Amino acid sequence: MKDRFGREISYMRISVTDRCNLRCKYCMPEEGIENLGHDKILTFEDIQRIVKAAAELGISKFRITGGEPLARKGIASLIEQLAATEGVKELVMTTNGTLLAGQAEALKKAGLSRVNISVDSLLYHKYEEITRGGDLDEVFEGVNAALAAGLTPVKLNVVAMEGFNDDEILNFVQLTINHPLDIRFIELMPIGQAAFSSGYRYLSCDEIKTKLPSLIPLKRQDGVADLYRYPEAQGNIGFISPMSRQFCGDCNKIRLTADGKLKPCLHTDQEIDLNEILQLKDHELLKETLRQAILQKGEQHELNSGGKPIEREMNRIGG
Ligand code: GTP
Ligand code: 5AD
Ligand code: SF4
Repeated sequence: MKDRFGREISYMRISVTDRCNLRCKYCMPEEGIENLGHDKILTFEDIQRIVKAAAELGISKFRITGGEPLARKGIASLIEQLAATEGVKELVMTTNGTLLAGQAEALKKAGLSRVNISVDSLLYHKYEEITRGGDLDEVFEGVNAALAAGLTPVKLNVVAMEGFNDDEILNFVQLTINHPLDIRFIELMPIGQAAFSSGYRYLSCDEIKTKLPSLIPLKRQDGVADLYRYPEAQGNIGFISPMSRQFCGDCNKIRLTADGKLKPCLHTDQEIDLNEILQLKDHELLKETLRQAILQKGEQHELNSGGKPIEREMNRIGG
């Protein structure tokens, strides 16, 4: 369906857990975050009901996120249920990849189309530093398993940070030449306390591009990334610039948090609580509530014009 500004809303991001086996410095505070109790997290049955209602409103792309979605038990069975729901055309996942090696094949079999994998450094010590203890080998194993299982195209998400990984840009880009992998550089967004206190500095996509001569621009596909490629490369290079180039005008998304709140926009604190409505088990009411939430979506966020940064930590939104 269309929102008040004529944008077709066709994409729902679903956070299935706020838990994560890593604690990236820009996403979570050092002590971690008190996790939501199991009774606060949407059940698979609730998620399925929401997806059915959303699909009836014309939403056809669903992305499973977290925290770390693979940290939620039985995730392949949720994928299987969602993939079988009428109107679900694209079912994808964003993961940190560390738990993927053992699950990639089952996820593919269950109906997952592809995965985006977050990896902010290709150096062991730096990956360990940013994730506070993560093991880069697990990510590489996850990436290989995703390629082998056909969860493709596999895209690697790199949050670009000055003084942290700006010296690795060429190494990331090299991966697109030697491997069938897409790389996407993402501008660091001021979301949640962790992003502020991490001490990492935002690096604009334009600055990254100055390090990459003779990129060939490609036509934008569905999605928020501006796409480029090197001749002879096997994968694309994408730039996601929420800070320097607002893409609200093309936004096609709505988000569902792990505790059952709809977020019409990533960058506002506005949330619509679905919990009471889910208890009523009234499908038409649920659908109408989704419709109203979409109609409440604002025209654009105000981050770049000094708007108040949002409070909810990223692990409870899912990006
Ligand atoms: P594709 O379907 O492969 O294009 O993936 P995606 O970019 O939609 O999803 P992914 O989870 O890989 O997101 C990559 C990054 O883009 C995350 O940091 C998101 O928070 C950010 N992002 C995606 N959509 C939006 C948006 O509408 N607004 C803002 N500000 N950031 C977004
Ligand atoms: N700014 C930009 N990207 C972020 N992510 C998490 N927190 C932020 C932030 N503050 C990224 C993750 C993952 C995606 C879902 O969101 O690294 O790739
Ligand atoms: Fe976990 Fe992703 Fe947050 Fe890192 S950015 S702590 S991998 S949810």
